[in-house]
Amino acid sequence: MTARALPRRLAVLNAKGGTGKTTLAVQLTAGLGRRVPCALGDLDPQGSASQWCGAGGTVRVLAAEHAWGDAGGAHLVWDCPPSVEHPAAQRALQQADALLVPVLPSPLDLWASWRLVEAIRAEQQRRPELRAWLLINQLEPGSALSAAMHDALREFGLPALQAVVRRRAIYRTAALQGVSVYDLGPRAAAAVADIEAVIEEMQT
Ligand SMILES: Nc1ncnc2c1ncn2[C@@H]1O[C@H](COP(=O)(O)OP(=O)(O)OP(=O)(O)O)[C@@H](O)[C@H]1O
Ligand SMILES: [Mg+2]
Repeated sequence: MTARALPRRLAVLNAKGGTGKTTLAVQLTAGLGRRVPCALGDLDPQGSASQWCGAGGTVRVLAAEHAWGDAGGAHLVWDCPPSVEHPAAQRALQQADALLVPVLPSPLDLWASWRLVEAIRAEQQRRPELRAWLLINQLEPGSALSAAMHDALREFGLPALQAVVRRRAIYRTAALQGVSVYDLGPRAAAAVADIEAVIEEMQT
């Protein structure tokens, strides 16, 4: 089977705060960046991605005003603000060719995101080629997804990637050091494998 092309404009968004948008956007930029030139567009006025990557780290970060258009030919990962209504999130939704919606492994967290899903489905009516997935983040090592979560995911109206990102201290270490898990050597191998699985599944 031929792999699909990597997304050229990948938006990481959720209306709910703290689900791992910035963490995953940084890691995905680094992972995609091993394959193609890639930059992280910091669309969140909180500026967390710029703080994370701005101090000479290995991930190239673009301020919001430079994060659109051609971007010098680079692929872009957009770290969105935690709101569907925010103009930058709206614009990302309209211009992305793929969307990842990180959710914590709790049905409560999913239910908080239904309005985003409505917005995504409306956009997919307009642009059927737009791909979108939920991505479970912070799955506890050793714990399987609960039956309640599987049911909630099924009802949610967006497919979930099989690949999940586990809760690992190394993601926080990477943020503290201003780098991605790809820069942290063998101790980050499991985290790198999480992110690689996400990237590979987006190409199937
Ligand atoms: N897989 C993970 N393992 C461990 N910690 C994680 C993981 N993903 C995110 N975190 C931590 O959870 C917190 C929230 O993550 P992050 O800031 O990436 O979320 P966010 O969705 O961007 O938040 P906001 O909505 O405020 O922009 C951070 O402290 C981050 O280090
Ligand atoms: Mg964030």
